Amino acid sequence: MSIHEKLKRLEELRAESEQGGGAKRVAAQHERGKLSARERLDLLLDDGSFVELDRFVTHRSTDFGLADKQFLGDGVVTGYGTVHGRLVYVFSQDFTVFGGSLSETHAEKIVKLQDMALKNGAPLIGLNDSGGARIQEGVVSLGGYADIFLRNTMASGVVPQISVILGPCAGGAVYSPAITDFIYMVRGTSYMFVTGPNVVKTVTHEDIDMEGLGGADVHASKSGVAHFAIDSEPECLASVRDLFHYIPQNNTELPPSREGADPHDRRDEKLLEIVPDNANQPYDMRDVIHTVVDDGTFYEVHERFAGNLLVGFAHLGGQPVGIVANQPAVLAGVLDIDASDKGARFVRFCDAFNIPLVVLEDVPGFLPGVSQEHGGIIRHGAKLLYAFSEATVPKVTVITRKAYGGAYDVMNSKHIRGDLNFAWPQAEIAVMGPKGAVEVLYRKEIAEADDPKAAAEARIEEYREMFAHPYIAAARGFIDDVIDPRDTRARLINGLDMLRNKRDQNPARKHGNIPL
Ligand code: HXC
Repeated sequence: MSIHEKLKRLEELRAESEQGGGAKRVAAQHERGKLSARERLDLLLDDGSFVELDRFVTHRSTDFGLADKQFLGDGVVTGYGTVHGRLVYVFSQDFTVFGGSLSETHAEKIVKLQDMALKNGAPLIGLNDSGGARIQEGVVSLGGYADIFLRNTMASGVVPQISVILGPCAGGAVYSPAITDFIYMVRGTSYMFVTGPNVVKTVTHEDIDMEGLGGADVHASKSGVAHFAIDSEPECLASVRDLFHYIPQNNTELPPSREGADPHDRRDEKLLEIVPDNANQPYDMRDVIHTVVDDGTFYEVHERFAGNLLVGFAHLGGQPVGIVANQPAVLAGVLDIDASDKGARFVRFCDAFNIPLVVLEDVPGFLPGVSQEHGGIIRHGAKLLYAFSEATVPKVTVITRKAYGGAYDVMNSKHIRGDLNFAWPQAEIAVMGPKGAVEVLYRKEIAEADDPKAAAEARIEEYREMFAHPYIAAARGFIDDVIDPRDTRARLINGLDMLRNKRDQNPARKHGNIPL
């Protein structure tokens, strides 16, 4: 055979490898509102940047008539490319080949990428669309999953790992995405569960469909498993690309900075209006975030889960930051179980990947209640405390209003190595709010008063004047400065600039024991 004939054969094989399970199956995929594995890669990566690896891999099974049923690539397209010019490794499962199920060789292809991502310090993105372990291969397939889980764990905190769920993801297969840093899901076509509706029906007699059990909205709002629920695949993949404006390649690099047109010293009169005079009235902390950050752009993570705490990325003076903010508009901004979990995980991501933390604080305390106590608010709240305490990235807090009780300590106070703590003049920093404090301190006196209501109000006013301001904390140096809210942006950018070369470390140890 001449070289030209050999090249022709190569072209034929390459073309065959790009057909997946065949035109009919690809059409069926489209009919369900799903893209093919390669169409997804086209949307995710910079044009023409994808370089495929292992396109000639086929499975090794001979059972169940599989010996003569081979597809080049074996149900997963793997390789590398760029997002905004930056190297990423990516796999895209092909549901048109054996339902995207994971065989020994399918797993080997993913493992090869994981090893490369770790060795070369670049993020790994997984586009998941799979029926799970390839049933015909039995334990070999389970072993393949375990090989992937192990590498997910080893890469955690070293390179960013992103999972995009674009179809089924069931059984033990869910645990690979679960270990990764961010999970994106698409409404109506993606679902995740450990056991499906049929098993649920048999075991617990509950009737529920796949969407209700493990669809995008369920995981993005109830379970917190997914960080993003998005309407369509193209929007979802565009959102993954946006994430790269904020995250670095690996744990030894800084996140990408950029030149912005938004002036560093921009003041905004609106910041005087957002917090109501009445300390019990809610306001939307997103308004503060949008007003302060570059161009008003906030890339919110876990938007619909534990709405009483906001987390997400933004730029300040061109530098990416992670924002953690109490949200007075939801449950008055209290910390509860879900908010603590959400915040802790986000703080740890930012700390692992050198992203400075900016905390906007307005927190009346932890949520009281039997369900919270029995659900382990002590254990969960401790996660957030632990995460802020151990974080060594630059950490700046602005107290916009309430900073009460243990939540004052938790929300990146100076005591747990917050680098800069600022307060707005409206800040109230104390063990508890005036009403609660007066009930504890003067219960007897108020009960015995001629006019209990008036007596209580007088004591509340007295307490408010004595404690409900930032100056006791500032006198101690627990607050570095009380600032004009209009200067918040300038002070944050200046502070983060000052902290750019911060060096801090934790004691040498195998690893800490965060209360899980
Ligand atoms: C082999 C599979 C497969 C699998 C699907 N297919 N899942 N082949 N192993 N796990 C094949 C089907 O036989 C079919 O082939 C094609 O893929 C498309 O599947 P359909 O069933 O026609 O598609 P659909 O109706 O959309 O249903 C999708 C599905 C369903 C819900 C994912 O296929 C399904 O329930 N699959 C089994 C899921 C499962 O139980 N997996 C194991 C989970 S446990 P043909 O040739 O007919 O088109 C697990 C353990 C991980 O994964 C362990 C980690 C520790």
